[in-house]
Amino acid sequence: ARVLHVVGTRPNFVKAAPVVAALEAAGCAQALVHTGQHYDERMSEVFFRQLGLPRPDADLGVGSGSHARQTADLLVALEAELTARAPRLVVVYGDVNSTLAAALVAAKLGVPVAHVEAGLRSFDMAMPEEVNRRLVDQLADLLFVTSPEAVGHLAREGVDIGRVHFVGNPMIDTLLGHVGLFDPAAARAAHGLPERYAVVTLHRPANVDDPEAARAAAGVLAEAARHLDLAVPLHPRGRAALSAAGLADAPGVHLLEPLGYIEFMSLVRGAAAVITDSGGVQEETTVLGVPCLTLRTTTERPVTVTHGTNRLVTHGELIPALRKVLDGANTLPADGPPLWDGRTGPRIADIVTQWLEHHD
Ligand code: UD1
Ligand code: UDP
Repeated sequence: ARVLHVVGTRPNFVKAAPVVAALEAAGCAQALVHTGQHYDERMSEVFFRQLGLPRPDADLGVGSGSHARQTADLLVALEAELTARAPRLVVVYGDVNSTLAAALVAAKLGVPVAHVEAGLRSFDMAMPEEVNRRLVDQLADLLFVTSPEAVGHLAREGVDIGRVHFVGNPMIDTLLGHVGLFDPAAARAAHGLPERYAVVTLHRPANVDDPEAARAAAGVLAEAARHLDLAVPLHPRGRAALSAAGLADAPGVHLLEPLGYIEFMSLVRGAAAVITDSGGVQEETTVLGVPCLTLRTTTERPVTVTHGTNRLVTHGELIPALRKVLDGANTLPADGPPLWDGRTGPRIADIVTQWLEHHD
């Protein structure tokens, strides 16, 4: 294969699907390697099924561990895989440990790297993702950005701007490509939810790893559940901590397993509000016009805030912000941000195929 995609986590699958499909349509020889960072059926396989991703050419089965352990295992497994497959270009997605490991291995083997979703910055180096993003962008030869401010971030870090392409958001290609399948009423019925409900997802280490933080989050969510029912599909990280902190017993809280993409987006589409610390969910709510309250102090996706759908809140600000949202005071724009139009995969495929022609 000339192009080798490396994916490993739930957000990677959602971003890679339209890029792989567009390169396939362009007749490009490609391979897909799954690192196995996410491995539960509900964190992995369900996305391959629903998003039409090809079965991986290799599954490295790396699994979970501390950052050092997981990254070390990823490096060793990816070095063998990339050496054996000798691609002309490695494509990596987002900001997870699989992304960093693949970029580092490729760079050391002298294989050029394309980074999809480059240039996002929270400016919070306590986030593992911020460390990964900065390093990957230093290693990349082709940088695909979702939003114009990312170009400025990259320029200030000394990245050659000739390598940077503003192409829009591939996650929104996936959303717009499947929106016809989103069925809020069916998803609501499947989980016994009333017509008015909110969707909650939490998995950032800062919110769920520390028992104190998990207790604070569980407390404020229990309070939110007095205003409306909460559908809470819990990521494995923090599931135990949030349940132990009492979230499972709070009236109006529906704790769920991680959901498949179609079911999750169906619930989001029908929700009166979303409360989250996810990166992707801030973007998806922006395009669906669903009010989003983000339980974080920073966001690497400021366009979701300036656009008007997203607001960063502390625990203390959540309930007043939720009230305001439920009052329906704010009107939301009809269009998404520039180039979040469902055509990002083909834009990336055009640039990659031209790049391959010039580098053969
Ligand atoms: C990873 C990413 C994070 C991203 C998230 C998306 C890093 C550093 N973090 O976080 O940026 O927002 O994915 O979902 O790469 N586990 C399971 N089943 C699985 C996978 C994980 O039970 O299929 C459990 C394991 O106990 C593991 C924990 O979840 O220790 C965390 O998994 P890991 O991949 O290390 O990080 P995430 O929190 O998923
Ligand atoms: N998602 C899903 N089911 C869920 C939660 C999330 O299908 O129960 C999808 C959704 O499209 C989201 C993506 O997975 O944007 C990535 O989610 P996550 O919050 O895990 O990662 P992040 O974007 O924070 O890195």
